[in-house]
Amino acid sequence: MFRKDFYWGGATAANQFEGAWDADGKGASLTDHCTNGSAKNPKWITEKIDEDKWYPSHVGIDFYHKYKEDIALAAEMGFNIFRMSINWSRIFPTGEEETPNQAGLDFYDKVFDELAKYNIEPIVTLSHFEIPYALIDKYNGWADRKVIDLFVNYSKTVIDYFADKVNLWLTFNEINAASMQNGVTVSVSNLQGYTGPMDKVPFNKQLSYQSLHHQLIGAAEVAKYIHNNYPNKKIGCMNLFITKYPLTCDPVDVLESQKQNRIVNWFCSDVQVRGYYPSYAQRFFDENNIKLNITDQDKQILKEGIVDFYTHSYYCSNCVTGDDKRRAESKPDANFGLANPHLKISDWGWVIDPKGLRYTLNEIYDRYQIPIMLVENGFGAYDKLEADKTIHDDYRIEYLKAHIEQMHEAVKDGVDLLGYTTWGWIDIVSASTGEMAKRYGFVYVDKQDDGTGDLSRYKKDSFYWYKKVIESNGKCL
Ligand code: BG6
Repeated sequence: MFRKDFYWGGATAANQFEGAWDADGKGASLTDHCTNGSAKNPKWITEKIDEDKWYPSHVGIDFYHKYKEDIALAAEMGFNIFRMSINWSRIFPTGEEETPNQAGLDFYDKVFDELAKYNIEPIVTLSHFEIPYALIDKYNGWADRKVIDLFVNYSKTVIDYFADKVNLWLTFNEINAASMQNGVTVSVSNLQGYTGPMDKVPFNKQLSYQSLHHQLIGAAEVAKYIHNNYPNKKIGCMNLFITKYPLTCDPVDVLESQKQNRIVNWFCSDVQVRGYYPSYAQRFFDENNIKLNITDQDKQILKEGIVDFYTHSYYCSNCVTGDDKRRAESKPDANFGLANPHLKISDWGWVIDPKGLRYTLNEIYDRYQIPIMLVENGFGAYDKLEADKTIHDDYRIEYLKAHIEQMHEAVKDGVDLLGYTTWGWIDIVSASTGEMAKRYGFVYVDKQDDGTGDLSRYKKDSFYWYKKVIESNGKCL
């Protein structure tokens, strides 16, 4: 079974649940410029805050004021780990201040103390799709090298300030999302001066990969800083993993899946775990007319800034083909691939594939041989709050149960799995669509997409189920 000290918990992101977007000196972050959307209508990013539009991150689920109540719920389920992020613009409102915003530091300090009260260990992401909007305005975000120093300065500030309270750090959430066209959801560049739907942001590959390179350097510098100054702390990378199967056994499809898996799923972690760009990268850059500015010093930093453990999200897989005719005849999924004829698909077009999790964990461990933590996995669904305030989410239990079973298989296969934090353990704003209706939580939050709702929290059936899973260290599913 799972190791005795297995981490069980849940995951969140500051911009999706804190709210209080301009409280106590906080600056606007990228997400604060994003409106709500839905499965059918993409959310928008607006250059200016438009009073006629609804920006869900402005209120989130108000964790900023309700953190005590929420952490008590997490503790009641038996969490021993809590994944969260720090909102960069709460600490450095425009990203360029000389001194940090004390009120921002104080808020996270209180959150860490509250977690400590229940013996819950925080695992903290330094940037979960978060960047001060002012840096997008001024520098086009990560397109400019200058942002590396600003990020490193912010990171060192919080790592030092919380030195006694946080031992597990992650640099960028789903860093590899930037390599996909839908990376614009979380974009690291291409957004300066843009107002419009997220799925129409112009995608400039040269700019995206140069920006990604800057993030990789920033992440490596932070990893090096931790290793040099805090030998007892651990730092990990965080990848979005959408396993890509060949649609058929035609070698054309097999090669296409290898190509896409490399670029989408492996590229960033190959750099972050090994310390250098993978051998397949050059051909991809040449064929896509990408010419990166990588200095000798950059190469040295990458080498010195490798991670201690690997973390990732896993929600779904999809299929790919190298054959145009087959592609045209197949049903697309929502993640730039094709639906799998053997598997079901969620209301948002994500292919449900628990066995794919076992396969993926094995692939990752075979490749890197370092400990893994699955820091996001969950089922986004429409939930119904019954008149008696219960929520019967057996579909969510079924999804999570099937995935935990496959995690167990992977452990039997030899994978060194450190822990599991389910995504959105409490209902929060969806990252891709900006809606509340896509709910993942064990706890229902009364917040609706038209902005109504009194933010009350209600335990779903899955709340009681997950509590038992944790109590039994994964035996009782
Ligand atoms: C991951 C992100 O991509 O998936 C989260 O790290 C996100 O921020 C989660 O919320 C689920 O995606 P969505 O779009 O359903 O919220």
